[in-house]
Amino acid sequence: MTALLPLNVSKHEVEAVNLGLSIFLHDVHNSLRANFSFVVEAQLEIREYSLSVFDKLRLPASFLQPLAPIELIYILEGQLFFQLASVKRNLGPGDFVVSDQLNRDIHLEAQSRVRYLHFSLPVTLQGVAKEYEVLCSDLVSLRLLFARNNQELTHVSLKAEEVMFLSPHSNNQATELYYILEGTLACNDAALKGLVLKPRDCLKVNGLTKDLIFQAQTDLKYLYFASAPSFDSLSHDLLELQRLAEEVESKDGYTSEHCRRIQSLALITGQVLGLSSERLLVLSIAAYLHDLGKVNVPVEILKKPTSLSSDEWEIIKQHPRFGEELLIGGPYDKAAKIVAQHHERLDGSGYPLGLSGKEILTEAYIIAVADTYDAMTTDRPYRKALSQDVAFAELRRFAGIHYPELIVDASILGIEQQTFESVIH
Ligand SMILES: [Fe+2]
Ligand SMILES: [Fe+2]
Repeated sequence: MTALLPLNVSKHEVEAVNLGLSIFLHDVHNSLRANFSFVVEAQLEIREYSLSVFDKLRLPASFLQPLAPIELIYILEGQLFFQLASVKRNLGPGDFVVSDQLNRDIHLEAQSRVRYLHFSLPVTLQGVAKEYEVLCSDLVSLRLLFARNNQELTHVSLKAEEVMFLSPHSNNQATELYYILEGTLACNDAALKGLVLKPRDCLKVNGLTKDLIFQAQTDLKYLYFASAPSFDSLSHDLLELQRLAEEVESKDGYTSEHCRRIQSLALITGQVLGLSSERLLVLSIAAYLHDLGKVNVPVEILKKPTSLSSDEWEIIKQHPRFGEELLIGGPYDKAAKIVAQHHERLDGSGYPLGLSGKEILTEAYIIAVADTYDAMTTDRPYRKALSQDVAFAELRRFAGIHYPELIVDASILGIEQQTFESVIH
């Protein structure tokens, strides 16, 4: 049974239905009591309510009713006074209360105008409540608010400009919801170009057929609900990526900003070339981890202040292959071959294999151009950064020799677009 509130069907929604995606834009919602409300296939209800100052709210005891839905109140705005036996507290935005296993009613009272989300999750007793977990990096942070009976609710923060991929869930029966709390999220996928999600908009994902690429336009916070376990694999993959990137950083002295810049340049070029989201996803990981293999190069060689002997240079030239070996069999297996080829060149003058022409993947060429451009436009110990024009001229000089002309043109176009956007913002 699907009970969804009436929607104005937009072009995006029609396209999105084919992809396994429904988009709920806040301004088309209406309901009798709640500001915002929807029910997803009898699995989950989310409603947004407002309270005036001194309004009261009760979360009923659920302990003796094993099949009673679990209720969760997530505060969006304002202060709510909480009382349970002798425990008294003021709750604010981002705080939440769960009725799971409550043996007495909880009373709440608004101390100001309050806006909150009310989640109702039908559960059986078989579920095991999970530990509250926090995972943070400076760019992404995941907070598991609640997990029960395989259903999970996670709070996610993303920094502005971070790219986010929606990928088909490993359990194809899973329903996922993304509810935007703060900030805006743009879909960069060709199929849904122009779609921007704002606070209170919601994406429902059910049987997604392909990867989709999104990008946070500002710092972003959203709630992520999944009807099948997701947090462990999400956080595991993210931690693994972070661990690998930190390893390169500590060994090579390269900053994570370098990896991020290569990732963003590579993504822009890939988008100009019209690569699919599936390929963009793998490209962005390969770009981020392109120099991973340097962790297997002795630090005395990597940081040697004088020039390298030919034996030492031979070892350095193996870093694309070391990177490939480290990635094979892990969560980022698909990026391995691209990483292996990021120093190969069109005319066969690259390393480690001396591949040429079509033997080299488009993605590897994209990363090679991004890496060269970044090296030219940042300060080095032995010279100042070159201007964008000089760097473009240099890339053009090697077009058709080191890199295919098409890739150089797409990279330059992408960088120009990005520069233009940062000027007009
Ligand atoms: Fe490299
Ligand atoms: Fe690099």
